[in-house]
Amino acid sequence: MAGIYIHIPFCKKRCHYCDFHKSLNLKDKGRMVKVLVKEMELENGFLESEQVETIYFGGGTPSVLDYDEIMIIFEGLYKNFKISKDAEITFEANPDDLTKQYLKKLRKTRINRLSIGLQSFSNQDLRLLNRRHKSETGINAVRDSKNAGFKNISIDLIYGIPGMSMETWENNLNIAFQMGINHISAYHLTIEPNTVFSRYIKEGRIKMPEEDTGIEQFRILIKKMGENKFLQYEISNFCLDGFFSKHNTNYWKQVEYLGIGPSAHSYNKEIRRWNIADNKKYMDSISKNKTPFEKEYLDNRKKYNEYILTSLRTMWGIDLKFLEENYSKEAMDYCMGLSKRFIDYGMVVKNMNNLILTDQGKLIADNITSELMM
Ligand SMILES: C[S@@+](CC[C@H](N)C(=O)[O-])C[C@H]1O[C@@H](n2cnc3c(N)ncnc32)[C@H](O)[C@@H]1O
Ligand code: SF4
Repeated sequence: MAGIYIHIPFCKKRCHYCDFHKSLNLKDKGRMVKVLVKEMELENGFLESEQVETIYFGGGTPSVLDYDEIMIIFEGLYKNFKISKDAEITFEANPDDLTKQYLKKLRKTRINRLSIGLQSFSNQDLRLLNRRHKSETGINAVRDSKNAGFKNISIDLIYGIPGMSMETWENNLNIAFQMGINHISAYHLTIEPNTVFSRYIKEGRIKMPEEDTGIEQFRILIKKMGENKFLQYEISNFCLDGFFSKHNTNYWKQVEYLGIGPSAHSYNKEIRRWNIADNKKYMDSISKNKTPFEKEYLDNRKKYNEYILTSLRTMWGIDLKFLEENYSKEAMDYCMGLSKRFIDYGMVVKNMNNLILTDQGKLIADNITSELMM
């Protein structure tokens, strides 16, 4: 079992919070698509002959691709990899790209899951975030995606936005639940270095909300998700029964994946590698038959840390048996020993062989994770 991630490194506008790799220069799009396929040819041995169960088009903005470009990528994928007949194929899209005509074209491809970046239904928030779309565009995009026949739809929301009131956040969630979608990713705004927001903060033009506000919004999130039968299967990810993202879940379960495109990461249990985050250098290098990446070998300590970092955030938690079988008995004892005080504080519960965060623990998940690392 394996996954493929394809990074589409273009956006039409730069959101003020985002540090994902992208370029606003769309004139290289056609060449990039051909080069992505070339990288697939160069790297088709990376997953050995593992069956590909999930494909994820992320970005940047995959929805800047036109139908022909998407089809060129699919041709490359099916030529170079063994892809399962019922693979989950997710496509990230910005709402204002999802016109009825575009959705009709998307339906003709093998894409069977959409992840739409709505972020908020407040136009004030959307303006502050420098999003391209307005609230109504987001609502229409979901309605039109459903009408086009997409059954598996996820939306992204952000909370902890400067100036966002509790009412706005609750209202955003209420609208989301009325949309008839089956998956929601909800992230607390993080201020990344070298973004417009980090400059605004330094200049005093915006102020992050108090920590208590973020915590209260997270509590509201958990409460309302529960009331609406959405399962919190990872700190920031919620779904109706059975609709969890297989692709992301596989990342957290140490399943191998190949990342195609500039800045994309790959992992095959022994190494982790990441492509150069520069469109021109990436394309020039691939054109000379060399994938430009850096890599690190994962020793037992790194593997253990990665497992803790990814698994503790999920509803399945840390599987102590998995630690023992895949790393060592010492690794399992080490983890169990350090977890004891969090169990005593009611932050973590031990359920059979698994260590799972309680709702209280989820509030300080990052601290607990770093305490459990080697
Ligand atoms: C790779 S981004 C892009 C998807 C698509 N281009 C879009 O903007 O809708 C995936 C998601 O990460 C979230 N995200 C990105 N940067 C963030 C930040 N600094 N804080 C919180 N969420 C962030 C947003 O919700 C975004 O939709
Ligand atoms: S959030 Fe999405 S659209 Fe905005 S800059 Fe980041 S990748 Fe591009």
